[in-house]
Amino acid sequence: MSAGMALWALTLGLLLLTALGHLCLLHLRRQRRPGEPPLDKGHVPWLGHALAFRKNMFKFLKGMREKHGDIFTVQFGGQYFTFVMDPLSYGPILKDTKRRLDFVSYARQLVFKVFGYRSLDGDHHMIHAASTKYLMGPSLQELNKVMLDSLSLVILGPAGWGPGHSGWHEEGLFNFCYKVLFTAGYLALFGFTRDKEQDVLQAQALFSEFCKFDVLFPRFVYSLLGPREWREIGRLQRLFHKMVSVRENRDKEGVSSWLSFMLQYLREQEVPEDMQDKFNFMMLWASQGNTGPSSFWALAFLLKHPEAMQAVRKEATGLLGEARLKDRQPFQVDVSVLHHTPVLDSVMEESLRLGASPTLLRLVQEDCALKMASGQEYLVRRGDIVALFPYLSVHMDPDIHPDPTAFQYDRFLNPDGSRKVDFYKAGRKIHHYSMPWGAGVSICPGRFFALSEMKLFLLLMVTHFDLELLDPATPVPPVDPNRWGFGTTQPTHDLHFRYRLRPPE
Ligand code: HEM
Repeated sequence: MSAGMALWALTLGLLLLTALGHLCLLHLRRQRRPGEPPLDKGHVPWLGHALAFRKNMFKFLKGMREKHGDIFTVQFGGQYFTFVMDPLSYGPILKDTKRRLDFVSYARQLVFKVFGYRSLDGDHHMIHAASTKYLMGPSLQELNKVMLDSLSLVILGPAGWGPGHSGWHEEGLFNFCYKVLFTAGYLALFGFTRDKEQDVLQAQALFSEFCKFDVLFPRFVYSLLGPREWREIGRLQRLFHKMVSVRENRDKEGVSSWLSFMLQYLREQEVPEDMQDKFNFMMLWASQGNTGPSSFWALAFLLKHPEAMQAVRKEATGLLGEARLKDRQPFQVDVSVLHHTPVLDSVMEESLRLGASPTLLRLVQEDCALKMASGQEYLVRRGDIVALFPYLSVHMDPDIHPDPTAFQYDRFLNPDGSRKVDFYKAGRKIHHYSMPWGAGVSICPGRFFALSEMKLFLLLMVTHFDLELLDPATPVPPVDPNRWGFGTTQPTHDLHFRYRLRPPE
């Protein structure tokens, strides 16, 4: 080794040691102060509990709750997170009238990292305004009709039903649901060209790239990708920016009012076109990442629970009659039936209770106290994050939902068949008894459209198709532990099934 190289190695070694020392100091410096929640920094400086959390968030938080109770602070990668596990104490965090807990600033960092999009101050408000206007209320009816046509196009092709559709088709249920919901949902929101056949092919190509991104997504968020995977993420990001770019989509017809409204706003704010492309990518991910997986859970549970399937089919037939397609026909459903499906609504709520696991995060803006339902107050520090994980503390709470891991299709139905909204914890009525959409300022603004899309898809599947699991004895697969905390969960492996369009009369 030359003298120069030795000096270089020594300098590098010293730098590393200094950095490590600094991390250890930071680690040792933070101590629990009086009035603060129990602090658990983990044994590894800076990283803290990051690895155990990442490996299985559900298991990790369950263990922490057993150790520390309903509120505790843990460290991941130099950042301190205070988890509140008692849902009766959620109210003040979600309402936060004094604005000491902020959603936007944390989300802003994340969307820049994941989508390359630099958000503007007014974005959050604008997205919610666009969604209230076009994804809910009277406009939703129009969008539902477009979605129905889009589902027809994707499932039957541009020519409608033809003899080529008869016979059984075998496929993975997860792949099938994800592909159909993604392609149909994407076309309904991002628009069509004159060549419908080509549109479906483009949407399918987008889906297959999206799946590659989706697999890497959880580890990408935690910055745990290997060098090759980093390059792959970069390639995919650039590809999506191009595939959903403003330029590529300029000639499309029927771009949803939702997306047009938001892009118009960005233009008015003089956001450059390449940034608008990144915004589109972010909206693609938000709008298409969860409906397919959620529909999978619903259909998988229906296939494993014949009494539930029977009840859903009975309700659907009562509304739509014995649906049969005629030659060259698309699906025909009066979308207003979506308002009259209490059984299907309960199936959806139950599937989302079992399948959706969002994490709600709020950045603490100033040192303040969190008041728990017990009356006890805990101090949290500026710069820390307050986190809720309702899957564990609400969806799986046996007090709120007896036998919580079981699928009960009528869990959200009253004996008279109406929607059940009364749930209790410790004898007290609980407002947030299921939280698949998050809550408070960050609640999903697409939730009504999402429910309509998934319900339309399920209605079509149960009324027009014969559906069978290839191996009826196979259980519903477990949740992939990598995906806890990222919206709707996904199964560890697919479930094989076959489907057959019922022949016309
Ligand atoms: C089953 C389907 C869906 C689930 C479970 C779901 C869930 C969620 C959750 C939990 C959030 C909040 C994330 C957070 O707190 O950081 C969210 C945000 C969002 N969702 Fe959904 N979502 C679904 C479908 C949709 C659809 C279909 C759309 C649009 C058409 C949509 C648009 C959005 C947008 C734009 C945001 C970000 C809102 C903001 O910036 O505050 N979602 N979603």
